[in-house]
Amino acid sequence: MITKLKNPLTPTYLDFKNYISRDTFSWNHSEASWEGANPGFFSHPFIIRPFSVDVAKIPKMVCKHTMYAHQVIEEILDFNNITLNCIYRMNLNKTYPQDFLDQQTPVHVDHEFPHSNLLMYFTSHKEGEGGQIIVDGEHYFPEEDDVITFPGTPHSTILPKKGFRVSMVTTYLGGYTRGPHVDKGEIIRDGVDA
Ligand SMILES: [Fe+2]
Repeated sequence: MITKLKNPLTPTYLDFKNYISRDTFSWNHSEASWEGANPGFFSHPFIIRPFSVDVAKIPKMVCKHTMYAHQVIEEILDFNNITLNCIYRMNLNKTYPQDFLDQQTPVHVDHEFPHSNLLMYFTSHKEGEGGQIIVDGEHYFPEEDDVITFPGTPHSTILPKKGFRVSMVTTYLGGYTRGPHVDKGEIIRDGVDA
C-alpha cells in the first residue's frame, strides 16, 4: 500500500532540489541489462545497498553530500511523525523513454530483508504520460515534490513517454522509538510505520 507523505518544502529540501538540478551535478549512466529487460538509467548514488559491498554487509556512503540528502529525508519523515532509524540505500534516479517492451522496469524488491521504500519526486507525470510506479497493482502518478512510502513489497516503474523522470529512492528502517523502560535495559518497540 502506498502512503503519501506531507512534504513541508523545508529550506533544506528546496536547496537540495536546486543543487541536484544544476548543470554541474554529476550523473552516472547504467546501460540496459538483462537483454534489454532492465532499461538504462542515470543515477547518482549517495548510499549503496549492503550487498553491493564485497568486504562487508554494511551500507556504504559514496557521496560527500550524503548527510545533506540524509537531512532532507529525516526532515520529511520527522514532519510525518515517522522515526528514521537507518538508511540502507539512497539513490537519485533519472529515467527516460527507450525502445523496450512495455517501457517498464522488472518487478522487484530493493532488498531481501525487511525495509520500507521512500520515493521523492522532482518531476510530474500525469496519467497517460508514463512515469508511474506500480505497487501491488496500484498505479501512482507523481507530482513534483510528492513523497511516498510503502513497505518493501514488489514494485516496478514505467518509463516516461517523453522527457526525464527524476526521483530519489531511499530504503530505510523506520518507526522504532525507545520506550520508557530503556533505562532498565529493556527496549520497547513503539510501532512500525506503513
Ligand atoms: Fe525499487
